[in-house]
Amino acid sequence: MKKQLIALIFAALPVLASASAEPGYPMDHVDIDLKDKASLQDGARTFVNYCMGCHSAKYQRYERVAKDLGIPEGLMLDNLVFTGAKIGEHMSIGMRPEDAKVWFGAAPPDLTLVARVRGNEWLYTYLRTFYEDPARPWGVNNKAFPNVGMPNVLVGLQGRQVLGCKQVPVVEHGKKQYDPLTGTPITHEACDQLTILPNTGTLNEAEFDEKVRNLVGFLAYSANPVKLESHRIGVYVLLYLAFFFVFAYLLKREFWKDVH
Ligand code: HEC
Repeated sequence: MKKQLIALIFAALPVLASASAEPGYPMDHVDIDLKDKASLQDGARTFVNYCMGCHSAKYQRYERVAKDLGIPEGLMLDNLVFTGAKIGEHMSIGMRPEDAKVWFGAAPPDLTLVARVRGNEWLYTYLRTFYEDPARPWGVNNKAFPNVGMPNVLVGLQGRQVLGCKQVPVVEHGKKQYDPLTGTPITHEACDQLTILPNTGTLNEAEFDEKVRNLVGFLAYSANPVKLESHRIGVYVLLYLAFFFVFAYLLKREFWKDVH
């Protein structure tokens, strides 16, 4: 009975894990550099300006962010704190979850740890794949999170994204197909492709991707603020072990000298 239960749980795991993504929708790769302070600062700015209207980061304090990202406290208070909070306070918001549930159908979750739950690539894909869908209450849908309750808050930067027809490469067994005679990629027309309407956003595609990468970087930092510190300490621990090994070895030689 127990065995069957365990087998059942394992069988259900892949289903649970993929429950939220459109089946087969590929995640976009993103490189996050937690040492790049300028990038994380830009991400923090985007977060407080575009996300904290609805989402808190209540396990994080402004002071800690300022210190970790190298932002002077005065600048932090003037440019990144809009709630009248003091520098030592948590990054909470005023919206009540009960109200939010009525407005959006689902309460916007706290985002302090979201990068651990969803992963950087999911976040990067999610924030870039909102598209217009008149059937939804906010007029938008999402590729990574079908029928999401969140409006497309970055539309002013990205521009209006719609589903349109595009020539896309034919892929078989994970490989792009090429015409054997001419060597050109074989394409077919697909009509579920994301396309940004020209000149509807303030950033071009590369700039927008960069903005979102910085934002995901900030969320990744926020989900594990001690990561950089752990790496630094880890190096010392390894150096110490290497150093200690020499003495341990010499001692061992000394002890065993007379045994043979
Ligand atoms: C107008 C309110 C609003 C704003 C502003 C907003 N969101 Fe959301 N967000 C929501 C709601 C509501 C949900 C829940 C959607 C659902 O469950 O269907 C959500 C869900 C999410 C999720 C999915 C969480 C999960 O794991 O299920 C992420 C990630 C997210 N938001 C990130 C952001 C980021 C980053 C920003 C800023 C760029 C932002 N949101 C701005 C309302 C908002």
